[in-house]
Amino acid sequence: MWFPLGSVLHSLWEGAPLQTLFLLSAILLILAKYLQKRRSHLNYPPGPPGLPIVGNFFQMDLKNPQKTTQKFTKKYGNIYCTHVGNLTFMMVSGLPLIKEVLVNQGHVFIDRPKVPVHFHVIKTFGLVMSNGQAWKQQRRFALMTLRNFGLGKKSLEARIQEEARYLIEAIREEQGQPFDPHFQINNAVSNIICSITFGYRFDYHDAQFRELLKSLDDILHLETRWECQLFNIFPWIMKFLPGTHQKLFKEWRKVEIFVEGIIKQHKEDLNPEETLDFIDAYLKELSKDNIHSSFEEKNLVFCTLDLFFAGTETTSTTLRWALLYMAVYPEIQGRIQAEIDRVVGQSRQPTMDDKENMPYTNAAIHEVQRMGNIIPFNVPRVATVDTTVAGYHVPKGTVVMTNLTALHRDPKEWATPETFNPEHFLENGQFKKKDSFLPFSIGKRVCLGEQLARAELFLFFTCLLQKFSFQAPPNTHLSLDSDVRVTTSPVSYKICALPRAM
Ligand code: HEM
Ligand SMILES: *[C@@H]1O[C@H](CO)[C@@H](O)[C@H](O)[C@H]1NC(C)=O
Repeated sequence: MWFPLGSVLHSLWEGAPLQTLFLLSAILLILAKYLQKRRSHLNYPPGPPGLPIVGNFFQMDLKNPQKTTQKFTKKYGNIYCTHVGNLTFMMVSGLPLIKEVLVNQGHVFIDRPKVPVHFHVIKTFGLVMSNGQAWKQQRRFALMTLRNFGLGKKSLEARIQEEARYLIEAIREEQGQPFDPHFQINNAVSNIICSITFGYRFDYHDAQFRELLKSLDDILHLETRWECQLFNIFPWIMKFLPGTHQKLFKEWRKVEIFVEGIIKQHKEDLNPEETLDFIDAYLKELSKDNIHSSFEEKNLVFCTLDLFFAGTETTSTTLRWALLYMAVYPEIQGRIQAEIDRVVGQSRQPTMDDKENMPYTNAAIHEVQRMGNIIPFNVPRVATVDTTVAGYHVPKGTVVMTNLTALHRDPKEWATPETFNPEHFLENGQFKKKDSFLPFSIGKRVCLGEQLARAELFLFFTCLLQKFSFQAPPNTHLSLDSDVRVTTSPVSYKICALPRAM
């Protein structure tokens, strides 16, 4: 090992002494800095020792990262750190520690880490990746506006019910034949965000709408590609190279232009007396001049896009899991339909008020979210100052992930952790809340759309089961395997929707 290195150095030195000296001192500097960082505090959370710069990268089984992390969890327990580049990642498991990080020390771990592929496009705009005062202002405004447009009120419920009728029509057109419901469900879910932000819904076959949804889907796919991951480590080099990251940036530009066009339309039609949607409300906020505020048109574009990104894929993936579980567990589907028939009947659509009288259906929806576990490690946060967690020193800049899988599959909390079983959320026939159920996270940065998502899940799910029974196509076995995209989604499947004979 040392011999060839020695001769390489020798010939380097012969050829270019100055450059070699420079290279050697750079390596030494980095090593020294690394050792200093590791030694300066002996009380870091445990974790696998890593190499300078590359960290634990080569310890990962890249084909099956799950296997490596299982090894780490087993060895180090509920809190451990890994390193990649100059970043430290802290993985936290178990309800008490998750609450410590997200609630008790919620103010410390309130920010999102800067992810270069996002930063390149979004900068510090929007709701999901923004931080500090801008995040606070935008989040408060978005929550208030969602509420004004009917979150928790009848008007929003009516929009979801109307969309459910379109969804039922689109599924009826499949005539009971095997089909992949991905497309129709995505359309229905994103139309709810469209109607809140743009003030109108799109026909499922509208060319512009399909283009928009295709771009959103492409962006989520492209982000997981290796070039984009490489961009996250070496943005200043990758910026100049071709690759899928460039295609990602192009798709982003397309959706930006789409939203900019809709904003332009809203400006032309703006009626000072009437605020019809999120964009109208935002334009009015823009017209108040306040130099200290983060309200600007670029932020309107990215807040709108964030509502799409955060609100469409998540809810749509959960509904796709729901239909799949119904087809795989027909007895459970039958019990839900019996409850729908008893409480709602067939002559009217389900409403949010029905939920209270439908504990079994409500429990089943929660169970879909527990098993689907679509955001397994939550959305990352970052320590804004040095702090102490579980007695360990956690320096400012540490990226924190919380292992929601461990919570949702904890054998101490769930009777049959690996099996779909609505009884997990029932006690004496009544719905029972569980502390170890956190699909929307918890604390000050909890999912902004939780209430909207819950309304959509309940109404779309019950409206569909009122009208159809979902079944595996003849002679087919449906797989419950998941496909890890940005969210954990079911591998794409075909299913039959048989109209219920009444
Ligand atoms: C089943 C559906 C959904 C799930 C499982 C889900 C889950 C989550 C999770 C785990 C987070 C991270 C929270 C944290 O950092 O602690 C989050 C953030 C967020 N969600 Fe959702 N979400 C869903 C639906 C929605 C919908 C429908 C909207 C649309 C309004 C939405 C908007 C957001 C936004 C804007 C954020 C960022 C909040 C912030 O950083 O302050 N989500 N969501
Ligand atoms: C999260 O928890 C699950 C279940 O305990 C475990 O199998 C997995 O390896 C953990 N993931 C990480 C990244 O620590």
